[in-house]
Amino acid sequence: VDRPIDLRSDTVTKPTAAMRSAMARADVGDDVMREDPTVRRLEERAAELTGKDHALFVPSGTMANLIAILVHTPRRSEILADERAHVVLSEVAGHAGLAGVAARTLRSDRRARFRASQITAAIRDPGNILQPRTALVMLENTHAHRSGQALDSRATSAVAAIARRHGVRVHVDGARIFNASIATGERVAQLLATADSASFCLSKGLGCPVGSLLAGDHAFIEEARRIRALLGGGLRQVGIIAAAGLVALSDGPDGTVERLVDDHRRAKRLAEGLGDLPGFSLDPGLVSTNLVISELRPRGRRAAGASAARLQRIVLDELARDGVAMLAYPRGAIRAATHMGIDDRAIDRALIACTRVSREFLS
Ligand SMILES: Cc1ncc(COP(=O)(O)O)c(C=O)c1O
Repeated sequence: VDRPIDLRSDTVTKPTAAMRSAMARADVGDDVMREDPTVRRLEERAAELTGKDHALFVPSGTMANLIAILVHTPRRSEILADERAHVVLSEVAGHAGLAGVAARTLRSDRRARFRASQITAAIRDPGNILQPRTALVMLENTHAHRSGQALDSRATSAVAAIARRHGVRVHVDGARIFNASIATGERVAQLLATADSASFCLSKGLGCPVGSLLAGDHAFIEEARRIRALLGGGLRQVGIIAAAGLVALSDGPDGTVERLVDDHRRAKRLAEGLGDLPGFSLDPGLVSTNLVISELRPRGRRAAGASAARLQRIVLDELARDGVAMLAYPRGAIRAATHMGIDDRAIDRALIACTRVSREFLS
């Protein structure tokens, strides 16, 4: 029997054999007391890759973003973020509930870019006592809800230059920053050079079981360490987990960064295949990393009148019957993510399943 093809997310991967064995062998200590040598090595590696002074291991991307907000923003201030940013859509409004700040949302374009005038216009007048102060711009690279768009260093520095002029900080949610690096051909440190802080995830395309890193200057990371403790994110012998991260970020054959290029190639193939199928609406030209988002626009009369939500349910259930899992996205869209568990044959099978669903339900 064929294995199910799980395209829901690049988080469904299992650790590699090299990661498992590094985890079993890891030298550990109490990381709250800063005595875990494996975590320290991982943090040094992350600082080096991001080009920042220091980095801090945290349990998740959500906690990394929340810590960044808590460190950068005073209560009753405001963050600027894309209306489809993960921090806005999928982090339980931690910025509001836990940091006490408002999110002013902007609409980036299809390539996840803001116009300079949008940022300038959104920054509040600090002289107006009725307005919240703008404290932080959050950028997302790659951008999950904009087809995994990668921002190059110019796109980030254009925003950062405006922010800096107004005394506003910039945090990059780089959950998939290595995908962005592969897609743009720029080093991660270049992509983040103009950001005050950044986070990335080990548990997305890189295949680790747990963990994210938050990077910034010395003062930022010292305060971040305090806030991590506040949130209960200070862990003890966490080198067991950090060991997998060191494998992922290593230059040798066990490293999992360079192979992202295969995920991108497969996502492109999937996108091009879907683009040819009636009912799946997407621009394959926009797919440059590992996320493929399709809207469902039925051509024929069969699905006429079905709501977007109903159509989404039908398509996901029918794909599941053929052993293919994809993810429900907002506004009736569906998402597929390529990752280590998806080979060329899995893409072939996924396209065969999508072809049947297109013919039977969307044509
Ligand atoms: C862009 C982005 N940022 C942050 C996160 C949060 O990461 P975590 O699930 O580790 O909390 C995700 C998770 O999918 C993400 O896609």
